[in-house]
Parts: sequence; C-alpha cells; structure tokens
Amino acid sequence: MKILTIIGARPQFVKAAVVSRALVDLADVSEVLVHTGQHYDEVMSGRFFRELGIPAPAYNLGVGSGSHGAQTGRMLERLDTVIEAERPDWVLLYGDTNSTLAGALAAAKLHVPVAHVEAGLRSWNRAMPEEINRLLTDQVSSLLFAPTEAAVTNLTREGIAGASVHLVGDVMFDAALAFGGRADADALLTRLGVVAGGYVLLTIHRAENTDDPARLSAIVAALGQVARSEPVVLPCHPRTMAALERAGLLDEVRTNLICVEPMGYLEMLAAERLARVVVTDSGGVQKEAFFFGVPCVIVRGETEWVELVELGCARLVEPDAIAAAVSVPPAGIAARDGLYGGGAAAERVARIMAGTGP
Ligand code: UD1
Ligand code: UDP
Repeated sequence: MKILTIIGARPQFVKAAVVSRALVDLADVSEVLVHTGQHYDEVMSGRFFRELGIPAPAYNLGVGSGSHGAQTGRMLERLDTVIEAERPDWVLLYGDTNSTLAGALAAAKLHVPVAHVEAGLRSWNRAMPEEINRLLTDQVSSLLFAPTEAAVTNLTREGIAGASVHLVGDVMFDAALAFGGRADADALLTRLGVVAGGYVLLTIHRAENTDDPARLSAIVAALGQVARSEPVVLPCHPRTMAALERAGLLDEVRTNLICVEPMGYLEMLAAERLARVVVTDSGGVQKEAFFFGVPCVIVRGETEWVELVELGCARLVEPDAIAAAVSVPPAGIAARDGLYGGGAAAERVARIMAGTGP
C-alpha cells in the first residue's frame, strides 16, 4: 500500500512525525512525503524535520506565502502533478491548514481516497480560515481519525459517521510523550533569563488576533501589564512579527516582553512545561500546556478542544481579561490517561490505514 502524506505547516510536521514512525513499522506500507512549502523558514520548517527525525520530503512544492486563494491554488495545481505521478492508494492529511484543504481537493478530484487525522474538530466560527478547511476536508474524507469524543459527535451531527470515523486520540499527545524532556532546559532558561515556574509563555498567531490592529494592540497592552510583575516570553510567529511591525507595536513588545524567534519543538515543549502559565491562541500549544499540567489562558472566543475548558484547566478570554486570568489562572490539571488517547493515537492511525486492526 502506498500512502502519500501531504504536510506544509509547523504543527503538521509534529503530527506527521509520530504517524510516519508508526507506518514504518508496518509491512507492505510505503509512504511518500510531500511538503507543500507553506512554511519555509528554517525555524518554521527545517529545524522540525531534523529534531523530529522526519526524512527529507520526496517533493517540496515550494508554494510559499500568499493570499488564501493564491497559496491554495498553487498547491492544488502542483499536487495534481504529484498525485498523478505517484498514484497512491491513500492521501493522508493532518489538521486544518491550507495545505490540508489543497491536499483534500486534489486527491478527491483524482479519485484517490483521503484519510484525515484530526477530523471532526469544530470552532463553529466560519470566519476562521481553518474552520472552512476542516469542514471541506472532512466532507471528502473516506477515513476520519477523530482525536476526541467531541469530534466524533460533531461528525455524527454533520451526517458523517459509521465505519469511516475512528476515535484514535490526539497524535500530538504521542509526540509530546516521545519528545518531551529532550531539550537542555537549564540552557534554555539561562538564555531566556527566567526561572522555572517564574514566567508566562505567550504565543499568538491566529489571523483574528494578528490582523486586527486594535485587537493586537489590546493583547500587547495586556501582556505589558503582566510583564510588570513577571517575565513574559514570546517566541514570535513570523505572521505576528509582520503584524506587530505594521501596527507600530514592535518597540513596545521588545521593551516589555522577552521576544525571541520561533522555538524549535524540543525547546518549546520545555518552555511550556516550565512556565507558570501559558497564554496562547494556538490549538497545539493549549493542549501541550494541559499535557504538562500547566494552566492555560486561551485568547480566543471559542476553542475546538472543548474538553480543556470543561475540565477547568483552560479559560477562554478576551484581551481585556488576560491580565486577570494570568494573575488567577485556571487550575492546571495533569493529563488524564485516555482523554487524548493515552499516547497510542499514531499507532492506531497506522494500523487502521494498513487494515491490520483498530
Ligand atoms: C498557518 C495555518 C494555521 C496554523 C499555522 C501554524 C492556514 C490558513 N493557516 O497559519 O491554521 O495554525 O499555520 O503555525 O493554513 N511566514 C514566514 N515564514 C514562514 C511561514 C510564514 O515569514 O516560514 C509569514 C508570511 O508573512 C506569511 C505569514 O507568515 O504570509 C502567514 O503564513 P501562513 O502559512 O499563510 O499562515 P500561518 O499564519 O502560518
Ligand atoms: N511550536 C514550536 N515553537 C514555537 C511555537 C510553537 O515548536 O515557537 C510548536 C508547538 O509546541 C506545537 C506546534 O508548534 O507543537 C503548534 O503550532 P502552531 O501554534 O503554529 O499552530 P496550531 O497548533 O495553532 O495550528
């Protein structure tokens, strides 16, 4: 069986790393890796391949940045050629980025079945580009790997159910278990000039937060207030860096916060584990905070990972409520076995794809 895996953005490198490892263990399965080139900076891409031991992709489509239409369109055109040439049995996709959507459309149009890891997540907010990507990808998928029970319920509500939906757990939990604890934490803390349990870790990159200058300014002001009593470390996503510069907020950020380049995955896991509180709008980072039992303040109106809020270890806040939530954070609850699949999600995905079991 030949599986064509399509990835392109930072979180997809993390997710694919653990599934690819599980696929390698299976007889009669070969995987061809395609990198769309959606993320391309060394700190957003190359470093992840090295740290996670992902083999060099067979194809790098080099699409780069652009508007949603331009970026997705370039991917679609180039993926056509690759899928035609490789004629895989399955196209395997992750998450909800433009690379996911392009892979889903290209495969479906060429009648190649699609398998989707992280199926069924919904924010119920169609202004989010990711929500459109997820809805459409799930519609054309033949195998849907749901990370949570809530995701299964969402798919059932949309009329997608039955044998094609599998509750496997979250492959990001597998990754955090496999790669957590590998960074030199002392060196990281020294470099950042902070102590364990004595800082706030911040990541912001969602379009809804970066692309509205008033909202971005309110977030920066709130974290500036936090930083008066405790250091705030911001590994800054390139989208956010560009938005801060456009909005004239970069000086304020550099003065008040410890603003650094995006971290490698191993360092990021350590930075999350040792923080007192995580403040984020990232899907992956909010779960990783939970994996390490660190409380999380989510700067969004809703989350796809509803169980984190239901459990009380994460709280959704608007920018004006960030400082109060950081000062009295939600309770940090260590990951409970089973909630996100207990660390065996990737193996389940691989076995189901190979038809050797659930
Ligand atoms: C994308 C995903 C988002 C995911 C995020 C993970 C979509 C619609 N969005 O958002 O769901 O959470 O990745 O990080 O697919 N840039 C660089 N260098 C890079 C990559 C990007 O400078 O290597 C800059 C460019 O200015 C680019 C901007 O970041 O325009 C945004 O990049 P893009 O891939 O379009 O979206 P993300 O915000 O990264
Ligand atoms: N991440 C990282 N370095 C950073 C920020 C994030 O390695 O500076 C990792 C993080 O640990 C998680 C993944 O990237 O595994 C999450 O990606 P991101 O926040 O970009 O996207 P999302 O999960 O919101 O789609």
